[in-house]
Amino acid sequence: KKKIAVMTSGGDSPGMNAAVRAVVRTGLHYGCDVYAVYEGYEGLLRGGDLLKKMSWEDVRGWLSEGGTLIGTARCMGFRQREGRKQAAGNLITEGIDALVVCGGDGSLTGADLFRSEWPSLVQELVKDGKFTAEQVAPYRNLTIVGLVGSIDNDMSGTDSTIGAYSALERICEMVDYIDATAKSHSRAFVVEVMGRHCGWLALMAGIATGADYIFIPERAVPHGKWQDELKEVCQRHRAKGRRNNTIIVAEGALDDQLNPVTANDVKDALIDLGLDTKVTILGHVQRGGTAVAHDRWLATLQGVDAVRAVLENTPDTPSPLIGILENKIIRMPLMESVALTKSVADAIESKDFDKAISLRDTEFIE
Ligand code: F6P
Repeated sequence: KKKIAVMTSGGDSPGMNAAVRAVVRTGLHYGCDVYAVYEGYEGLLRGGDLLKKMSWEDVRGWLSEGGTLIGTARCMGFRQREGRKQAAGNLITEGIDALVVCGGDGSLTGADLFRSEWPSLVQELVKDGKFTAEQVAPYRNLTIVGLVGSIDNDMSGTDSTIGAYSALERICEMVDYIDATAKSHSRAFVVEVMGRHCGWLALMAGIATGADYIFIPERAVPHGKWQDELKEVCQRHRAKGRRNNTIIVAEGALDDQLNPVTANDVKDALIDLGLDTKVTILGHVQRGGTAVAHDRWLATLQGVDAVRAVLENTPDTPSPLIGILENKIIRMPLMESVALTKSVADAIESKDFDKAISLRDTEFIE
């Protein structure tokens, strides 16, 4: 009987529970045993109670739960080969040789590395006397399937990551609240949003709330000059009758010399213009809460396909990543997607912002 494990890793994101639910139930539907790995890679390392066999009922009601109910962790131990060897041992003990990982690009890269090392890790476990050659014989390869769970929407090759639309919704709701008080006092508000090195949340929130100005890493602003442009834009909007100003700053925003542009830098410029200005850093409220419908169905359809991908996998298929492109659930080689994602960071690092924008593949950015 095929045994599949599912885990969440890295920062939690709304919809992860829907993904786990879909993997559990689809796996059971196809006659597999499905295990949940609790606490992310920490659970793989520690094994035992943290590898829990799941039943249909175990995931009841999970569609509407925020965060990840099986826990997640940023695990240092799994970054060491010794830790991955221990993890391989724990999986073999349970008879598991397929892993569906829902996480960001770092977590998925770790998973693919684990897969590529698997045969040698297993051999070492035999050499160490942990298992006999007969015991490990059925576990020649590890199948890895990736689902992208992240509020940042920073993975190339897929239109949206699980959780991004929920965070966007939360941000818009918060900005609407802020707008009400801002208009009352004729104030300017600088709102910092998450996204790590990606400007998607800031950009989409800015469009959806009608912000005056948006700062994102991919469209770096001219060093020493952006302040004047910002002031001019805000003044123009005020002259047209606007009672408040909303500026959205991605936490990774940069100027074209790669200096961070912080919410406080922006505030200073607006104060200089004579505007009564406040800063709101939204923080983790934008990551918590229940998933919007988009993330629920996305996670569900992708979870179903992840199990199918496990069952169709052959030892020489590269680890697939389940994505969505133009409304179709697709599979692409995980490491290709990771490499594309890294090329955006490289383009920013080398100050080639036009390239970063074209690689992001978000037509609105232009
Ligand atoms: O990747 C998701 C994310 O929320 C980023 O937007 C943010 O930079 C980071 O995680 C925060 O991480 P932590 O919750 O560990 O502080």
